[in-house]
Amino acid sequence: MQKQYIQFVAASALMMFVQTGSQADPVANADMEAGQKIYMKNCEVCHLIGRNLINPAKEIQNSTIVADPKRLKEWLSRRNGIMPQFAHIAKNDIELRQLREFLLFAQKNPSEVKKLEDEEASAEAAKKDGKGSKTK
Ligand code: HEC
Repeated sequence: MQKQYIQFVAASALMMFVQTGSQADPVANADMEAGQKIYMKNCEVCHLIGRNLINPAKEIQNSTIVADPKRLKEWLSRRNGIMPQFAHIAKNDIELRQLREFLLFAQKNPSEVKKLEDEEASAEAAKKDGKGSKTK
């Protein structure tokens, strides 16, 4: 009885944490978080969201391709000019969905993504320093 009560309280606390967590930080959504990793690993090298790079007209941020899952799948399954194909993502419905969730979020919240990218960049720089601390 006692044990069940504790489990219930723990479960409710967790639920509250997840709910308020996802409100405070929309990237906390599990799909989006996985999508973010896929983006950081595969796309960020060329596509920095929240900034103007070489050809902003063709940026993910302004792309209508992201809205349509079929067009995104097609886009990733072939080479597009300089952009290489990402067949392994195009073929993987789960990863494709996760990546798309994140890209949709990124299109709506470019400044949030810029923050994530900056954090990632300074973490990388710290790793290279061999110090593990943020230096600027
Ligand atoms: C090697 C650099 C590079 C990488 C890596 C890369 N892209 Fe691209 N991407 C480009 C270039 C260049 C274009 C413009 C292609 C063209 O000429 O039409 C583009 C265009 C796009 C567009 C279309 C924009 C439009 O015109 O509507 C989307 C969507 C896109 N990329 C998504 C992604 C995603 C998602 C990833 C990661 C899985 C990714 N890209 C990885 C270089 C890259």
